[in-house]
Amino acid sequence: MKFDLTPKKFSELQVEALVVYVFEKETELKGTIRDVDRVTGGLITSLLSTKELTGKPFEYAYARNPEGLQAKRIFVFGAGKKETFDLGQLRKLAGAIARTLRSKSILNFALLKRSAFDSAGAAQAVVEGIILAHFDIDRYKTDNEPKNPIQTVLLAGGDQARKPAILQAIERGRIVAEAQNFARELINEPSNKLTPTHLAERASVMAREFDLRIEILEREDMEKLGMGALLSVARGSEEPPKLIVLTYDPQGVEHPSKTIGLVGKGITFDTGGISLKPPEGMEKMKYDMSGAASMIAVMRALALLKPKVKVIAMVPTTENMPGGRAQKPGDVQTSMSGKTIEVINTDAEGRLVLSDAIAYVKKLGATHLIDMATLTGAVSIALGDVRVGVMGNHQKWMNAFLRAAEECGEKMWQLPMDEEYGDLIKSKIADLKNTGGRYASTITAAKFLEVFAGDTPWIHLDIAGTEWLEEAKPYCSEGPTGIGIRSVIQTVCTQR
Ligand code: BES
Ligand code: MN
Ligand code: ZN
Repeated sequence: MKFDLTPKKFSELQVEALVVYVFEKETELKGTIRDVDRVTGGLITSLLSTKELTGKPFEYAYARNPEGLQAKRIFVFGAGKKETFDLGQLRKLAGAIARTLRSKSILNFALLKRSAFDSAGAAQAVVEGIILAHFDIDRYKTDNEPKNPIQTVLLAGGDQARKPAILQAIERGRIVAEAQNFARELINEPSNKLTPTHLAERASVMAREFDLRIEILEREDMEKLGMGALLSVARGSEEPPKLIVLTYDPQGVEHPSKTIGLVGKGITFDTGGISLKPPEGMEKMKYDMSGAASMIAVMRALALLKPKVKVIAMVPTTENMPGGRAQKPGDVQTSMSGKTIEVINTDAEGRLVLSDAIAYVKKLGATHLIDMATLTGAVSIALGDVRVGVMGNHQKWMNAFLRAAEECGEKMWQLPMDEEYGDLIKSKIADLKNTGGRYASTITAAKFLEVFAGDTPWIHLDIAGTEWLEEAKPYCSEGPTGIGIRSVIQTVCTQR
């Protein structure tokens, strides 16, 4: 896919399609869009007056061989309400444009900018939207017609004086969105193909290609480190668990001021273990490694974006299976940190694998932590598929993260972490127990992790409600969303 900024006037672009957009209730056209209307003999005003187009998000109308243009077609898209149009909406609009044109085999087009945004920010959002729009979940269909990707996108109407910054923004957008799609491909893999061994292999191939350090710890290594919590989850499975450690070292920075530890939940399939889940919808539990795939994808992007801080990704990966040797409710496990855990429910396995990963990444020198996990069903009850539940122990680190999320258009919501919630996971037998009952279970899961994060600034993202889209949107396929990846990349890249 090629993206470029063109200095040409919209009427002189020799492309398959010129794409423009109008807002809802936009009766009086101004600026460039008015010029387009005038050159085409009032095409846009006529579409609006006949209500063939109302400006509602992602609806569109098009004409072939338009008057006054060298483009073969003109597409007019709806962009929604002008007052609420932001970079997030622009990213979605670009995605909808890409999916619409691609479905008609129109693979080269020019998009005419008309928003008041900074040209670089807008260019990045457009590139991201278009690349993200290319992901689909059907790779195992054998009778698919091969669908070609968009070939060339020209950004027209941008600020020529800012060309270097815009070209850089295009590159950033490409890196970030390709990382996101890389994660979505992994997440979409079924668990018979993507075992812990295979995930480790995919991470190794990526690390080699992007020049990152990687180490894969085996069961024996984890035993030596005393990772009783992580290994307790792996007991029921025939597939060997892996602990993937990826490291990014900034070049030319003597003593990086921060080492950021990124931890991702990598349960390649969650049956619930002995506390078996009901069959209904269990097939979805292949995506219980989304946090893992996301953090591996973040490292892929960081290798190219080269931030100034050191970053270690710690990815514990295993299946959660019932079996003759599986752990049982009531078992007590000793975690690497020394803390003992009473396992009430073997289906609360995510926090077990994460607790040892958090302890180990701290031991390797992490000064700041972010973990990402499909941790609780309850987060969907609280926030649906709209916002990611975010919890932490350090408001300054939290604010840095929330600002980054806002900047890249990912919706988050901070949940409270009052001490009282911690009372729900006190055990009579061990230091803590792995479930706190139904009440506030997204928060009690985070309270469990907080014990292991200790004083280290830490943020926890529960993406169980937002990682899988049940129905396609005009700008995006159903299936894995890759939510959170952009925010983590942005957070790391704004540290010094
Ligand atoms: N992987 C699940 C959480 C989940 C549920 C993710 C639905 C995506 C969709 C997690 O391991 C789990 O089973 N959590 C339990 C915790 C409970 C036993 C305390 C849950 O949320 O029900
Ligand atoms: Mn579970
Ligand atoms: Zn799980």
